[in-house]
Amino acid sequence: MDYLERRSLPWRLLGGGSNLLVADQDLGEVVLQLARPKNGTTFDANRVEVAAAANLGTTVMECAKRNLGGMEGLIGVPGTVGGALRMNAGAYGTEIGPLARSLTVYRGATGRVEVLKTPDLKFEYRHSSFAPNDIMLSVSLELITRPYAEIVEKVKLFNQKRRASQPINEKSAGCIFKNPSGHSAGKMMDELGLKGTRVGGAVVSERHANFFVNRYQATAADILKLMDLVRESVLKTYGLELEEEVIVWRL
Ligand code: EPU
Repeated sequence: MDYLERRSLPWRLLGGGSNLLVADQDLGEVVLQLARPKNGTTFDANRVEVAAAANLGTTVMECAKRNLGGMEGLIGVPGTVGGALRMNAGAYGTEIGPLARSLTVYRGATGRVEVLKTPDLKFEYRHSSFAPNDIMLSVSLELITRPYAEIVEKVKLFNQKRRASQPINEKSAGCIFKNPSGHSAGKMMDELGLKGTRVGGAVVSERHANFFVNRYQATAADILKLMDLVRESVLKTYGLELEEEVIVWRL
């Protein structure tokens, strides 16, 4: 970080890259990614301390083996624990943010490493209060003691649900838009008959309309055009402005 700061080199932090759309042009920035830890996870009663770069699904299962549940809904959400925290990833009634008790963060603004604790950790629907130049290093999560077999049963159920309703075998960046309060973006797009709509190589998934799949070597521009088209359609019919959930790295 010193090297980059001293030379005023612009940088961005990449988590697992699963909720991200990167512009086709060269952004001219250094991309940083934390190394995946080998044995970075430690347990203390119902607390788990895990590196931000750890894989989320692997963490859910590692905790399950210690009879620690509460994260089952997050199984199948691709990416890292840190990325999930930044986005406050959620599925099937569980969000990761409220499970966090303390976070070790490199603060871009000061260049210092700080430990933040609840209630200073602020999470909202698919949003956290961290600055783009904050780098999460590790997190302590508070989980629920639950028998392994019970956790695995839930994990199987959520995996089945996800397989049945989301295009998990195709390339996508997860849900493209946030759900406007009280509405489902995917449902509205489906009702508008937008499934299968194609721009260049990008297609609105026939399985779940809020997923755009890269079926024919799509460019980022194809996806962005498809997003505009869908946004206009939803605004015209429902009078609702869809907000991006996918993180877009633009020039
Ligand atoms: N629906 C349709 N057609 C579609 C898609 C959905 O009719 O093409 C209907 C479903 O049948 C259901 C309702 O819309 O009645 C809601 O759908 P679903 O349960 O799939 O949930 P969602 O609101 O579309 C949210 C999250 C997902 C998360 C699921 C499961 C957002 C934007 N999406 O989707 O998160 O996996 O719930 O909990 O909050 C993500 O954030 O990237 C993501 C995929």
